[in-house]
Order: sequence, then structure tokens, then C-alpha cells
Amino acid sequence: MGLFRKKAVGAPAAVPAHVAFIMDGHGRWARRRGLPRKAGHAAGAEACRRIFRYCKKIGIRTVTVYAFSTENWSRPKDEVDALMKLFDKYVDTLLAEYRQHGVRFVFIGDKSPLSPELREKMERLERESAALFDDYTLNIAINYGGRDEIVHAVNSLLAEGKTAVTQEDIASHLYTAHSPDPDLIVRTAGERRLSNFLLWQASYSELYSTQTLWPDMKERDVDEALHSYAGRVRRFGGVK
Ligand code: IPE
Ligand code: IPE
Ligand code: MG
Repeated sequence: MGLFRKKAVGAPAAVPAHVAFIMDGHGRWARRRGLPRKAGHAAGAEACRRIFRYCKKIGIRTVTVYAFSTENWSRPKDEVDALMKLFDKYVDTLLAEYRQHGVRFVFIGDKSPLSPELREKMERLERESAALFDDYTLNIAINYGGRDEIVHAVNSLLAEGKTAVTQEDIASHLYTAHSPDPDLIVRTAGERRLSNFLLWQASYSELYSTQTLWPDMKERDVDEALHSYAGRVRRFGGVK
């Protein structure tokens, strides 16, 4: 960082409690460099570390990142395999260093199609980090889909014997039951859609899109998103 770091905007005025990122543009980042798509995914994982560290530093208590959707299985097998290998490596690294991060890690999504070894490591990281920390949370969405999550919540309620449900029942059975709804959802690479991300939770989230490709995402891009957020008027259906 250093003394001479240029800032696009001043320090963020309003720090949201929960910022969610749709990490997009890994493939485009790689193509621009003549590299295979998996190189873009590896660079994306690095950006994720950088951005999460920064969000924690400025006091954002919950960060959620969209790493793999329920629809991403439709990609070519070699790309899916490379992503699974990358998640495995990432979880190994987090297991080795989570105490330094001071953060609770939670994987949101359906873990059942993942390899038993990867699942076991993910669950160990969740368990061990939750036992030590709860001030800051990083939710990592893997095999996550908003529709799938709602169906999963309803099925859990049916299994509990419920025959009619409330909004609170559904919210408390989502993968994100431990987190507040996101205040701000940031999507990189210029896209302006949710792609099945946090459908229930996004009902009053502010949306922000940047042209920056996720692997290029820097602290100043977060500052810009927060600057935009600070200028929004959130009405939640009321009058302000
Ligand atoms: C986001 O980057 C990563 C995942 C969805 C796993 P993409 O792989 O979607 O990159 P683009 O959209 O093809 O550039
Ligand atoms: C959304 O990105 C999913 C993740 C970031 C994991 P995609 O690249 O898969 O989304 P679409 O296909 O462009 O909507
Ligand atoms: Mg994409």
C-alpha cells in the first residue's frame, strides 16, 4: 500500500455490514493475456484474498463471494476439474492459515456433489474457524444457486413437519441464516445480472457493476463501489 498509493475516492463514509461480490471475468482476463481460462481462475483466487483482507481492514463484517454456481457444472469438464482443484488448494491454504485471518469461514451452497475429501476439509475449516471467531465472516458460495437454496430451505421445513411457512422460517433455513442480507452486491466484468445469486436476500440490496475484471480487482475498486453505495437512498419501500 504505502504512502503514495493513489486513491480514486476518499475513505468510504458508510461502511456496509455485508457486501457480496459476484466474481466475474476470469475467462476474459485470461483471454486478453493469451492464457488458459484456468489461469484466470487462479488469478481470481488471489484477488479474492486481497479484496477480503481489505474489506476486513475497513470494517465490513460480512463478505460473500460467488465462486461457483449450480449452473457452472455445464462448463467443459476440464474447466470444472480445474476449478475443483483450485478450491481444494484454496481450502488447504485456508486450513493452514485461518488463525491469522481472524475470520469465520462458511461455505454456502449444496456440498453434496463435491468430493468427500473436499467436503470434509470445508467442514473442518467451518468448524474450526467458527470455534475461534465470529466478528468477521467470509461466506464462499460453491455450488450455490439462489433457487436451489430456497428449495433446500422449504424441504428442510417440510422435513420438520411444517405445513405452512413464514418469511422468517425461510430466511432462517437459508445457507446464509447466520448473516444479515447484503447491503451491497458488486458484480465485476461489466455484467448486470444476478445469475441466481442470493435471490431471496437481495430483495433490497443496492447493486453496483464495474467494468473491472475480478482478477484485476483492487482496493480502490472497492472504495469506488462504497462511494457509490454511500450516495444511495435506501427506502425499503417507505418514504424518505
Ligand atoms: C467467473 O469468471 C468465475 C466463475 C464463474 C467460476 P468466468 O469464468 O465466468 O469469466 P468470463 O465471464 O468467462 O470472463
Ligand atoms: C456467475 O458468473 C457465477 C459466479 C460468479 C460463480 P457466470 O459467468 O457463471 O454467469 P453468467 O453465465 O454470465 O450469467
Ligand atoms: Mg462469467
